[in-house]
Amino acid sequence: MNAINFFKTKKLDLIVDFYTSVLALPVWLNQDSCIIFRAGNQLLGFCRCDISEISGTITFFCKDRKEVDAIYSRLKAIAKTAPKPNLAYNIYNFWAADPEGRSLEFQCFDHQLEPYITLEEGLKTRRSIRKYKSEPVPEELLNKVFELCRYSPTACNLQSYYYIVIKQREILEKIVSLRGPSGKPILASPYAIAVASKGDISHRKIQDACIAAYHLMLAAKAYDLGTCWVTDMDKDEIKDLLGIPHQDYIACLTPIGYPAEHFPVPERHQVKDFVRYL
Ligand SMILES: Cc1cc2nc3c(=O)[nH]c(=O)nc-3n(C[C@H](O)[C@H](O)[C@H](O)COP(=O)(O)O)c2cc1C
Repeated sequence: MNAINFFKTKKLDLIVDFYTSVLALPVWLNQDSCIIFRAGNQLLGFCRCDISEISGTITFFCKDRKEVDAIYSRLKAIAKTAPKPNLAYNIYNFWAADPEGRSLEFQCFDHQLEPYITLEEGLKTRRSIRKYKSEPVPEELLNKVFELCRYSPTACNLQSYYYIVIKQREILEKIVSLRGPSGKPILASPYAIAVASKGDISHRKIQDACIAAYHLMLAAKAYDLGTCWVTDMDKDEIKDLLGIPHQDYIACLTPIGYPAEHFPVPERHQVKDFVRYL
């Protein structure tokens, strides 16, 4: 089940202009007298009416303080306060108002969160992360990620893939020395994960392992964890270090951890550049 919060408004045109041009929210559904915006995981509807509902607060939350500050510098004219930490909730926030006086809050949580991002947002914002915080991901959270990995597709549903969580630095360092300098991202987080598939189970071990690797990356993203595909790991010396049979296939190793960097998506091709309809 999903949900929409609706507000009545006497000034629909003004409100639509504000949420579109000032807050840059995309319209999810236009029903003429009711316009529904999407703000990440939240749908917000405004309906033309002879009264305006302005009670309550619409809270927008960001990834980090830098993003809150960036929004504040854009919205200074309508801000009621400057951004500051609120220790009671372990957040960093500032307040503003929309043209009808609805209270708007912009904040980030200064602590880890349960998943909240939509699949679409996850797909758009997943990045290869090569800098991590030193705090390791608790096994409980890793297991939540692996729980999502159960749903990776495999040829004939043979489920040939498996994951090895590598915590020992010496092993990771040996792998990097065998792999070469571009393998270094696996040393950037406290743990790395090898994604492999069983050669004796599937004739599609390469595809199964590659999909399982990307499935892991998206599952990690759902919990706001970072990963980075580090390739060229399907080597017997690396398999020996990890106790992997030579007939199996290693799709990649990836660091996994709390990102210590956030950066925008690099230039991508347009749809017209890579889609052809016959
Ligand atoms: C098949 C494959 C191999 C990759 N190999 C490496 C690698 O060996 N080392 C590395 O740092 N990044 C590696 N990457 C990550 C890419 O550099 C990264 O996906 C690309 O630059 C796009 O950036 P993004 O993932 O942040 O969108 C690999 C990605 C893929 C899909």
